[in-house]
Amino acid sequence: MTNKDFEKFLDTSDEWIETRTGIKSRHIVPRDKHVAASELGAKAAGIAMKRAGIDPDQIDGIICATFTPDSFFPSTACRIQAILGCSCSFAFDISAACAGFIYALSNANALIVAGNASNILVVGSEVISKTLDWTDRSTCILFGDGAGAVLMQASEQNGRGVLSTYMASDGTLGDILMLPSWGEKRTMKMKGNEVFKHAVRMMSDASLRALEMAGINMEQIDLFIPHQANIRIIQSVADHLSIPDEKVVLNLQKYGNTSSASIPLALDEVWNMGLIKEGTKVLLTALGGGVTVGSSIIRF
Ligand code: ACO
Repeated sequence: MTNKDFEKFLDTSDEWIETRTGIKSRHIVPRDKHVAASELGAKAAGIAMKRAGIDPDQIDGIICATFTPDSFFPSTACRIQAILGCSCSFAFDISAACAGFIYALSNANALIVAGNASNILVVGSEVISKTLDWTDRSTCILFGDGAGAVLMQASEQNGRGVLSTYMASDGTLGDILMLPSWGEKRTMKMKGNEVFKHAVRMMSDASLRALEMAGINMEQIDLFIPHQANIRIIQSVADHLSIPDEKVVLNLQKYGNTSSASIPLALDEVWNMGLIKEGTKVLLTALGGGVTVGSSIIRF
């Protein structure tokens, strides 16, 4: 769905959307068909397993980050398990909105380090289009549907893997970005300016903390993959952290804000471009409704 498509039913323009957000198009599941987050997530997870050369019966667990689950229960992760035919010990969802992928990654890492699992699928999958008020021009133009996945595996090799994860939340900011459950009109509500302000501050702070925890400095980071919400938020965070443009990974122009899917989608793209090599250090950061924030440093 392009920005031009919105001009047909909203008082907006391609120029306004691109200038204020950096977004040019986004992918939307068919409106007349039920497409669940588990369907998209299972596709992504299946590709991740194939690339890693891992069979479904080798998967110990599935963690799915999503704020658009198939149902309150069973979890989207359990549905993904059923679709893929994995013989897991555990499968569960994480609700941390746009920071969900980093929370999921952090949980998976902790389970692996504790010796509870060797192979964990970490999935971010969203069908956000089902939650949007298509008459609210300041919100519906921002989002897209999508899924991404990584396979995390235990390794004896020193210095590789998740070097640090930092997570924080501030529940007092809950009403700046929310999707109500029952009893209310179920569409997303957002105070865009407020989200913008807190996103820049909290994502910058979380990134610095993750660097400190890993004991490395910004110059040692090869790629910066921020949650893809708005080009101006990303540029402000990159400026705060003095990260040069060539290290900043951007794909929101094609997908919009896909919440928990945005970081694994970007990881897939840089992997396909050959930018991930042994030793590559990547800084991830995201902020989402809650408010939740997280940053992680991975050394491949
Ligand atoms: N087309 C045209 N005009 C619009 C549109 C639109 N789609 N949307 C809003 N406007 C108008 C407003 O009505 C307002 O008009 P007014 O001055 O007559 O009142 C004017 O544009 C300016 O509105 P602002 O809200 O001040 O515009 P701003 O530059 O802040 O951009 C935006 C709005 C894009 C929502 C921005 O605040 C933003 O991106 N915030 C972050 C929100 C976000 O990313 N949320 C995602 C979840 S959290 C996360 O992922 C980090």
